[in-house]
Amino acid sequence: MKPMDLGAARAAATLPAALGQRIEPTREADPLLAVEGLSLTRGESLILDDVSFTLRRGATLGLVGESGAGKSTIALTLIGLLRAPEVGLAGTIDLDGAGNVTQANEAAWLKLRGRRVTMIFQDASAALNPCFTIGRQITTPLRRVLGLSRSAARARAIELLESVGLNDAPSRLSAYPHQLSGGMQQRVMIAIALSSNPDLLLADEPTSALDVTIQAQIIRLILDESRRRSASCIFVLHDLALASQCCDDIVVLYGGQVMETGPSRVVLEAPMHPYTQALKGCVLEFDTEELEPLPSGAPSFASMTPACRFAPRCPRALDKCSATKPPLVETRGRKVACWNPVT
Ligand SMILES: Nc1ncnc2c1ncn2[C@@H]1O[C@H](COP(=O)(O)OP(=O)(O)OP(=O)(O)O)[C@@H](O)[C@H]1O
Ligand code: SF4
Ligand SMILES: [Mg+2]
Repeated sequence: MKPMDLGAARAAATLPAALGQRIEPTREADPLLAVEGLSLTRGESLILDDVSFTLRRGATLGLVGESGAGKSTIALTLIGLLRAPEVGLAGTIDLDGAGNVTQANEAAWLKLRGRRVTMIFQDASAALNPCFTIGRQITTPLRRVLGLSRSAARARAIELLESVGLNDAPSRLSAYPHQLSGGMQQRVMIAIALSSNPDLLLADEPTSALDVTIQAQIIRLILDESRRRSASCIFVLHDLALASQCCDDIVVLYGGQVMETGPSRVVLEAPMHPYTQALKGCVLEFDTEELEPLPSGAPSFASMTPACRFAPRCPRALDKCSATKPPLVETRGRKVACWNPVT
């Protein structure tokens, strides 16, 4: 398998310059967010299986994995948009001592969502309401959440739009979403997500609907602005090279299970889990001679074993892998769930 040169991959991912001043993330002993044993069922399908991870204050955490791994499901659960009875939830999500929010009702979520937890969605054109002006969409949360007057909300909206690099901000307030480009719409979404000074900012593939030339600008903007406000970030990403550059920590998911998690440099430079290693083999670089695609497509939940879900595709599988689920154990600076890890 061709090893990924993270130096070259980082250069290819090209965040344009050094990231701005930041507050150093705190130690794991004092996390902003602790997810413990989170399981989510839809009908008969176990979509998330015993997912655990923590997010340090001021840190950026990347959720990576193939399509269908459960990344968006985790993000939607963290912002209270996937709740019982639509789905079955077990385990705990503790946001900054607010207690376990997995069983919180809509009234409780209204105090968190859009205030302490906000989200930048993948497709800004779908997330913004086409019937309302940008001004209305950005001033409404400012008035409702922060209680600003009409004129103060307007002034704050202009400041926010300027801070995310939208030129001619006052006149943009009267524009409708379709009058802005995709990149400008995404900047508006970022401004709305930052407007309440959230503790936790979720970004679900915030640049995958954008032209490649502005993807790095938008990622950099989210990182800089969230760091300036001391918000912690969870990025859902497909791009491992980008994850290695912009995320302090990483969670590698497969079939709704955590395969490996830890500091992104530790995990991505020397993966111990066969799945993380296989994902690295799929990274495209300018000088890639031969890609190493994962064998067969991602399986359906019905075909997965209840033990290690990667077993049917794993080149290192042992007999016990399909029978007994490997625990997530601390090894060499990260946590790995594997009976036969790469050493
Ligand atoms: N509305 C739904 N109804 C039933 N099952 C769903 C629904 N949404 C998602 N799922 C299931 O949950 C699994 C996880 O989906 P999710 O959208 O979280 O994956 P993802 O990792 O975000 O993938 P992608 O990278 O394609 O966005 C999917 O494989 C799918 O089977
Ligand atoms: S537990 Fe077994 S099947 Fe799963 S990744 Fe490790 S070696 Fe492969
Ligand atoms: Mg998704």
